[in-house]
Amino acid sequence: MSPPNPPQSSEKPPPNTADGFLAVPLLPSHPTRDFDSGEPELDEFLRRYALKNEGTVSRTFVMLDEGQPRILGFYTLAVASATPAEVGPHHPKRLPNYQQLGAVLIARLGRHISAKGAGLGRALIFDALKRCRQVGVLAGCAGVLVDAKHERAAGFYERYGFARLGSSGERRRLYLPLATIERLLHG
Ligand SMILES: CC(C)(COP(=O)(O)OP(=O)(O)OC[C@H]1O[C@@H](n2cnc3c(N)ncnc32)[C@H](O)[C@@H]1OP(=O)(O)O)[C@@H](O)C(=O)NCCC(=O)NCCS
Repeated sequence: MSPPNPPQSSEKPPPNTADGFLAVPLLPSHPTRDFDSGEPELDEFLRRYALKNEGTVSRTFVMLDEGQPRILGFYTLAVASATPAEVGPHHPKRLPNYQQLGAVLIARLGRHISAKGAGLGRALIFDALKRCRQVGVLAGCAGVLVDAKHERAAGFYERYGFARLGSSGERRRLYLPLATIERLLHG
């Protein structure tokens, strides 16, 4: 499997982006129907809701297979917020005591089951964090949130420095300060 979307000269990937994989904005022509992450709810979101939500609720980015019309992985970003009490303990510096602070939510992320072992998870999270950093540059925000679907997913995010914010009900929310992303990307 070779890198499907060679980086454009205007959008150079950070050094740690896995080997040239680059996600592009979801289009109606992308074959969402065949995507299988092994998590039916995630696949259904991509198939039925991602395009409908595009722009007003969230933005979805897909990594395509070079040789065939196939989605190898995708992630969805949305705007969110968190309280200083929730995220403050994970920040290197003291945060202003506003009721809510801006954050980017990685609302969905998954790779095709057939791409297991190809480093796609890593490529997806780095690409997503790169875009989160852009949000921070344009509008300012505290960091990145993710609601892990299960313990396995939480372990994946922790691998990249996300800290658990505690769980309520089924929710496993994790957080990464924006300040940390730079270090991670240029590691
Ligand atoms: C979570 C998911 C994206 C990980 O993708 P992947 O292709 O297995 O990840 P990679 O092979 O790129 O692994 C990247 C790194 O994360 C580590 N990793 C992968 N899964 C992990 C886990 N569950 N816990 C801890 N570390 C994990 C790998 O060991 C690797 O570490 P390394 O760079 O030190 O070698 C993938 O399992 C997936 O799409 N699952 C189904 C959908 C899902 O659960 N999404 C999360 C919803 S919240």
